[in-house]
Amino acid sequence: MNLPGSSIPLPYAVVSICWVFLIYRLLYRQKSTIPAIPGSSGFISSYVAALRFLGHPREIISAGYSKDRNGIFRFPGLRRWQYIANGRDRLRELIAAPAHIVSFEESVWDTFQFEYTVGPEFKSNPYHIDVIRGTLTRNLGRCFPRVRDEIVHAFDDVIGVRDTEWKLIQMYPASLQIVARTTNRLYVDLPVCREPEYLQICINFATVLFFRGQSIGLFPKFLRPIFGPLISKRKSILRQALKFLGPLIDERLDQENQYGHEWAGRPNDLISWLLDVAEGNERTAPALAMRILAANAVAIHTTSIALTDAIFDLAAYPDHIFLMREEAEREVATQGWTKAALGNMHRIDSFLRESMRINSGPVGTTRKVIAKDGFEFSDGTTIPYGALISIPSGPTHHDAANYEHPDTFDGFRFSRRREERQRLVDSEGTGSFTQHMVTTAPEYVVFGHGHHACPGRFFAATELKAMMAHILTNYDIKPETEIRPPEICFGENIVPNPRGKVWLRKRDK
Ligand code: HEM
Repeated sequence: MNLPGSSIPLPYAVVSICWVFLIYRLLYRQKSTIPAIPGSSGFISSYVAALRFLGHPREIISAGYSKDRNGIFRFPGLRRWQYIANGRDRLRELIAAPAHIVSFEESVWDTFQFEYTVGPEFKSNPYHIDVIRGTLTRNLGRCFPRVRDEIVHAFDDVIGVRDTEWKLIQMYPASLQIVARTTNRLYVDLPVCREPEYLQICINFATVLFFRGQSIGLFPKFLRPIFGPLISKRKSILRQALKFLGPLIDERLDQENQYGHEWAGRPNDLISWLLDVAEGNERTAPALAMRILAANAVAIHTTSIALTDAIFDLAAYPDHIFLMREEAEREVATQGWTKAALGNMHRIDSFLRESMRINSGPVGTTRKVIAKDGFEFSDGTTIPYGALISIPSGPTHHDAANYEHPDTFDGFRFSRRREERQRLVDSEGTGSFTQHMVTTAPEYVVFGHGHHACPGRFFAATELKAMMAHILTNYDIKPETEIRPPEICFGENIVPNPRGKVWLRKRDK
């Protein structure tokens, strides 16, 4: 195919335009006095360093952090410089900055090119986020029996370990399936939540956002309207999802049109919670299905990564198993499989918090500077307009100033503190515990911190605790090898090795 009105082949034309754009970007790259990571400030070397970051993000961020724990440094990304603000004071300033100066939404829109991957409507009306933060979270207790039921069936079907023979399980792919099913049992319930093709669409949609979105961002702005839709395949993915969600949503829309929000047997699920709020054009099957896909994209991979890491940690540090198993069995014996019972599983809570601390990615809490004058920290350091600025999550979680023996996995580090606090409360009547799995803090930013801290973390914690309690009470576990298979990095996006395995067998109770 040729460029319209010429004999130049289209692929050559596109590549040439991109090169011209690249040279332009090289000439006009943001200049800054903020120190760059070593070997990255040159003309070409910055692109070499950007490629190195894709494979070695932890080393690069840790090196920048240890140079000045309260400083700021920058490293080159493929599209632009990314700034890292070290230390809790800078984190506080960043999350307190007004949204017209640094913006969470703009960083997400720009990085994952939401315009093309989820659609422009999401920008003016991100109401599904409020639904997750509000109605979904409030309904977790009431919906827990459904979630628990799915966990039991999903483990049986996906892990397939039914007797006391050891079986090797590839953990990350299994976690994705289990989490996708459990999440969709809450979102859309049976039978759709068990449809393999639908689950695969939900799992893949996050890949569309993360990888295809970032690829679209590499194109110059003026080419994105052409290549964005082609690369994102948003419409075809939505069409596939509508095969499963369309009839379900249409039926619900009919009921709502006839009876409003109150009718006997109205399901307590994400579709109803969205319909409570959706107005106008949002009350159509394609629009609602897109919200459901987006709610899947933020939930499935994040929770599956945490589950896989926690299972690898359980296999690697088996001395934790006895006390957590005893805790789970005791709480279930007294309160049944309920959210209240999970609330008393302090050791499991602590183990998961520790697993997420030690395995967390290198950077997070990213914001885009949208004020033309840049964003100025109180010491006068200014981050230029258009730049991304993040917190060094990994090094923060591994800093001895924040955690004793920070590189040692200590699954009961937080539950011991909780017991100490409780003793103080009992003896002096003062103090309270503030290090639950879902509590964010400047030294614990796994879920971010401040106004945009993950609104789905209460659901994630409920799922993860219920899954861990299920594993502990039903399976024996041991590692496949002494050395954990290396994680897979693509810049700041890090996932457990999909080929990593653990041995599982049914407990002989
Ligand atoms: C272990 C699992 C999870 C982890 C580690 C995680 C982590 C995060 C992080 C780091 C952020 C960005 C916070 C910031 O930059 O300040 C975030 C945002 C978000 N998360 Fe999660 N998340 C998890 C599970 C979930 C689940 C299950 C849901 C949905 C039910 C969810 C929904 C969201 C949404 C909607 C946002 C955007 C918030 C906004 O725009 O203000 N997350 N999450």
